[in-house]
This record gives sequence, C-alpha cells and structure tokens, in this order.
Amino acid sequence: MKYFDSKYFHYKDSELYCENVPVKKIVDIYGTPAYIYSKNFFKDRFLEFDDAFKKVKHKIFFASKSNFNLNVIKIFSDLGAGIDVNSSGELYRALKAGVNPKNILLTGVGKTKDEIILGLENNVLLIKAESLQEVILINKLASKLGKKADVALRVNPDVDAKTHPYISTGLAENKFGIDSSSALDIFIECSKLPNINMCGIDMHIGSQITTVEPFVEAVIKMSELTKKIISAGINIKHFDIGGGMGVIYNDEKPFTPKELADVLVPIFMGINCDIFFEPGRYLTANGGILATEVLYTKQNKKKNFVVVDAAMTDMLRPSIYKAYHHIQPIQLKNQQDIKADIVGPVCESGDFLAKDREVENVEAGDFLAVMSAGAYGMVMSSNYNARRRAPEIIVDGSDFYITRSRENFEHLLYDEKIISQLHK
Ligand code: LLP
Repeated sequence: MKYFDSKYFHYKDSELYCENVPVKKIVDIYGTPAYIYSKNFFKDRFLEFDDAFKKVKHKIFFASKSNFNLNVIKIFSDLGAGIDVNSSGELYRALKAGVNPKNILLTGVGKTKDEIILGLENNVLLIKAESLQEVILINKLASKLGKKADVALRVNPDVDAKTHPYISTGLAENKFGIDSSSALDIFIECSKLPNINMCGIDMHIGSQITTVEPFVEAVIKMSELTKKIISAGINIKHFDIGGGMGVIYNDEKPFTPKELADVLVPIFMGINCDIFFEPGRYLTANGGILATEVLYTKQNKKKNFVVVDAAMTDMLRPSIYKAYHHIQPIQLKNQQDIKADIVGPVCESGDFLAKDREVENVEAGDFLAVMSAGAYGMVMSSNYNARRRAPEIIVDGSDFYITRSRENFEHLLYDEKIISQLHK
C-alpha cells in the first residue's frame, strides 16, 4: 500500500495524526465522513509561495473555489492574501470571512448582471471580464451606479497546459477568456468606455499543471501582448497569471514555487506591472483529508469491495476525473494488502473513491483517510440521494475546531414545503 506522509499528516505509533492530534480522536467526536484540515499546512504553503516571488511586486489571491470554508478564507486573508471569487456566493463568503473588498478579485466566465452589480456595489479590487460583451455590460451597470469600474480582461493564450481535458482552460477550443489575436483591439475598444478603467490583464491556463513550460510559454505571449497594450496608451497595472500550480496526489513531480519563480521572474522584470497569482489547489489540496468509516467488505468472482460511508457526494474528483487520491488507514494494523474497489453508498456505479487499489486489509468499523482532499473536495459536494454534507474540522497544533457541522435533516429541506393546493 502506498501512503502519504507529511509533516502535517503523519503516523505516530501506527495512528494517523493531523499535526498533533490523532485523527481517530476527531472522528470519535464528530463522526464520518468528515473533512479535516491542517491550518499550519495552509500557512506554510502560502508563506513558501509568497517568499518565492519576493523579488517582484506581487499579490497572491487565494482561489476560494478550491476550498471556501470561511475559516480557510480567513486564514489566507490574515496572512496577507487576497481572495479570488468566482460567483456572488463566493463573494458573499469572502465578505462574511471579513475580507476587505479591496483584496477581492471577481472572476467568472458567465457573471450575471446581479453578480456584477454586487461586485461594483462592494467596490472589489477588480472585475475580471471574459468578453467584450461583458465589459460593455459592466460599463452600463457602473454608469447606473455612478461608478468607474476597475476591469481586467482574461486573455486565452492558446497554450497546452498538458493536464486533464476537463481542467485545461487555456486552449483556443476552451470557453475561457478572449482570443489573443483580437485582444489588443478589444482592450482599445474597452478603454474608450466612459465607466471602465482598463487596468489589468489576466490568464489562467488550467489546473494541476506539473511542469513550468506551459506557464513560461503563456507568460511570454501575454507579456508581449501587455507591452503592446501599454504602448497603445492603456495603463495596465496588474498582470495576473492565474492559478493551476500542480501538487502531488500520487507520484507526480510538480515544480516548486521557487522553480516557477526562477523562470518567470526574469520575464516579469520586463513588464512594469504588479504580478497577481490565483493558486487554489497548491495552497489547500495536501492540507486536508476526508475521513471515512468502512461499513462492509465483500467479494465477488472478480473483485474485492470496501464499502465506506463517504460517497461521490462528499468527494467527486475520482468519479468525474478518475482522480487518484491515496486512501490509507487511520489506524495501521500492519495487515497484508488486498486489491479492492473502495466505493460509497450512492446508487451509481460511478460512486467510487478508488478502483483496483492496494489497501491494507480492512474490516467493517475501521477508518480510512482519503488524502489530499483539501482542494475541490467539500466545495464540490452535493446532497444527491438526500445525503447530508460532511462537517469540516480545522486542526491547529494540538487544538481542533469544528468550523461547520454536519448538515441535519432540516438543512435538506431548507425552504421546501408541501403545497396543499397541489394535492387537492
Ligand atoms: N483562477 C481561475 C480563473 C480558475 O478558473 C481556477 C480554477 C483557479 C484560479 C485555481 O486553480 P488551481 O490553482 O486550484 O488549479 N474541480 C477541478 C479543478 C477545477 C479548477 C477550476 N479553476 C479539480 O477537482 O481538479
């Protein structure tokens, strides 16, 4: 069995710990499935990234889509990060976490009128637009509110990020941003709009990128374009390279922030802009686990199955991207490994956390940890099968706190009611 061991999630006397707390102690209190995060992982990752780029004026905007827990947002914000929000819901969460709107970027390929208005009313730092039509709409709405909107345009640099097709965003065939060949003309057109201050250029080429080459290729293209835009008299102050920095789930060998800085800083030096980053996964993925209990084990002629109480509703990544996450015991028993599918209780064949996986031979009542679940885990959970969403616990040294409780049955109904007229 392969397992993941780090300073933040490690074994001591065969017990999995998060920082200084045995994970079993947490699941005994809060039950399973449960998300457990390491605050000090988040902190150290942010500081490592920030330090790597200290030679250029920069700001890191944590992509809250990867983990929008209020306390996680606040941990990054308190460290000096800005927050990247992709919807009015994420904007609401960032504001609730106490983030200053002047540290918020409003992103999104299809923002609605209401989302743009909310961004304008809250005076976010920048609205990142993805089409000429959107900038025209922002101009109209800003004019109604008597404001001048600070806007960045996302340009699609048409580079291959060499990642899963569903999380690749910088190719011409993808829906994101404006075409780089018409970008200069669109910037010029937008800069003429009276209620728009065109001040940023933005890209995001994909997610879970493990080599620096796609970033270098895209940043070179974008910096050339930026120089042309500035020469046309448009005052571009922010150059945003997006997120996408890859992490280790299995045996990937991603670059470090320092390695990325070594190749990008010389290019950044050639443009006179503040550099923005929007990492999500890099800051959160390896800082969280999903703890789950084994409910049953069974065999058929072909396979072993380990049925656990976490499902695709809690962790969707394996089902939709065939994503790999280490799955390992919360208490090692040093038993022989078996090969098994680790599956959840939802009525779908696609409800699995791992297929044909070597795991320690477990039995009902044992606990497992789905590793590297801090990014795109809880945020992609759902209530399918009327399942209640898991709680989120954050560990800080020897302390741990429940930051969001397991949903109760009332949450499942929210405002739903029986309409008597429908049943006459
Ligand atoms: N900025 C923009 C504009 C984005 O669209 C994204 C992610 C990020 C930043 C952060 O990317 P990161 O550093 O986390 O790679 N659900 C997928 C990932 C989708 C990413 C979408 N956009 C997954 O579970 O792998």
